[in-house]
Amino acid sequence: MRNRVAVLHGVNLDALDRRPAQHYGGLTFARLEQRIEHFARELRLDARFFQSNHEGEYVEELHKAGDYADGLLLNPGAWTHYAWSLRDAVEVSGLPAVEVHLSDVDRREEFRRHSVLADVTVGRVSGKGVDGYREALELVRDAMGGV
Ligand code: DQA
Repeated sequence: MRNRVAVLHGVNLDALDRRPAQHYGGLTFARLEQRIEHFARELRLDARFFQSNHEGEYVEELHKAGDYADGLLLNPGAWTHYAWSLRDAVEVSGLPAVEVHLSDVDRREEFRRHSVLADVTVGRVSGKGVDGYREALELVRDAMGGV
């Protein structure tokens, strides 16, 4: 059964409740992880969580992810838009990956429209808040071909 998902949160996601409420809804990071855990259980997925504000640590987690996960759910925060090292590390992981954003990155500043992960991901969900994580988990599940 391939049902193990690595949920990797990137830079500034740990400070969600101190970021603009019009984009992030005043949500705490702890609450976000609780909701994702709940969605994962509903979908019979086994979610493992990681967050870092350090690009190199995030890359190293991607390198390790193949040892404990069957798929990736990634919200790298602002790294999404410029950190090419993440793109290559997703490739190294060899795992199907889905990109998710709480806010609608296509309707904010111009720089947020570009994703370095575009060619190494099987899907992307953006602008649907926490509920978007459920949809993204479904995409990962389908790409893993497990459960
Ligand atoms: C984000 C969108 C990014 O542009 C931003 O830098 C974040 C959060 C989101 O979830 O909406 O940190 O990834």
